[in-house]
Amino acid sequence: MKVSYHGHSVVKVQTEGKTILFDPFITGNSLTDLQVEKEKADVIILTHGHGDHVGDTEAIASRCNSLVVAPNELAVYLGWKGLNTHGMNIGGAYEFNFGTVKYTQAFHSSAVVTENQQIIYMGMPAGVLFTAEGKTIYHAGDTALFSDMKLIGEQHPIDLAFLPIGDNFTMGPRDAAVAAKLINAKLVVPVHYNTFPPIRQNPQNFLDLLEDSLKGKILEVGETLEL
Ligand code: NI
Ligand code: MN
Repeated sequence: MKVSYHGHSVVKVQTEGKTILFDPFITGNSLTDLQVEKEKADVIILTHGHGDHVGDTEAIASRCNSLVVAPNELAVYLGWKGLNTHGMNIGGAYEFNFGTVKYTQAFHSSAVVTENQQIIYMGMPAGVLFTAEGKTIYHAGDTALFSDMKLIGEQHPIDLAFLPIGDNFTMGPRDAAVAAKLINAKLVVPVHYNTFPPIRQNPQNFLDLLEDSLKGKILEVGETLEL
């Protein structure tokens, strides 16, 4: 499979025949190389309800008739907007025709903030384990460091992990380096930094903090890895 990074927490996975977008925040994403009207997705996988993760889901999914996989309350909410959704919850896995999705815990919050100053809670935020073609990717979503990451890594050998390093809303580089150790992925890629002033980071600092046995890589926006 091909896995590419598109700024903030946007990840695209291309398997034989399917395109899967994670957290497609394009409008307002100062870093991304994607264009909402040009993106084609068979599947959109969401980690939580914040605007910088749900992003352009509605526009892309309604145009492409994508399946939107999301934590349950968020899936229900997006279903009310007419999208084709599949709700899941933490600890649950489901085998789709494009791969297996398992939701894992994340220590964060999850809500939609409306234009008329309402906050609509969207259940629990989550991370996602995605397995296809014999490879497993962990998209941590937005999260603090938590020690059960060790259990996630032990139960699911991870080929590639995307960990937030921006600080302020999520782990910073130091906590993310501990997370990388607990997850023990073959390769770890920092995400969720430099999009907004409060999450400005030099990702090299994160790589420098990784234990010697771990491999990290900074992906440029638009860069693709072959797994
Ligand atoms: Ni968030
Ligand atoms: Mn976020």
